[in-house]
Amino acid sequence: LVASMEQVEETYIMVKPDGVQRGLVGDIISRFEKKGFKLTGLKLFQCPKDLAEACCWEFIDDFNLFNIYLQWLQEHYKDLNSKPFFPKLIEYITSGPVVCMAWEGAGVVASARKLIGSTDPLQAEPGTIRGDLAVQTGRNVVHGSDSPENGKREIGLWFKEGELCQWTPAQAQWLR
Ligand code: TYD
Repeated sequence: LVASMEQVEETYIMVKPDGVQRGLVGDIISRFEKKGFKLTGLKLFQCPKDLAEACCWEFIDDFNLFNIYLQWLQEHYKDLNSKPFFPKLIEYITSGPVVCMAWEGAGVVASARKLIGSTDPLQAEPGTIRGDLAVQTGRNVVHGSDSPENGKREIGLWFKEGELCQWTPAQAQWLR
């Protein structure tokens, strides 16, 4: 995936629970802001506790709600839900609040992946978010969509209609 000025894209970026707990939200947001991408959606999202517990495969009362939520997560991590680490990934992602973001811009999907760095933070280059701020793959502080299609798909999963803003930044002409 190569970043290009040709196409305005959207990507879903999420600060995972460890990033929120460690007070890294501002640092992470500012890297995308300073790069020059446009923020079109932003919210702190707390997974209800019973659902978080249910994601550790424990009993909960509201199976309906649980099934809807689990489907939603499995849809988000569509390619990963047969992997051995999937239950742990669900447990981690639902263990506390996350910061959900939609970012827009030319080549934003590939560029955001570069800013984020390799999945394994020990392999991630210094200067990247994971290279600077993380150690473990299972605690890699941030998520970024891996294709423009998944960017759209994930924004649709994590944001409701009306939660996204279309706007033109005053500085837009300096970035194109
Ligand atoms: P993946 O989509 O491969 O990586 P990325 O987040 O860089 O797009 O995997 C999604 C998440 O799954 C990853 O951020 C952390 C978790 N994961 C593990 O816990 N162990 C693993 O071996 C892999 C490959 C991923």
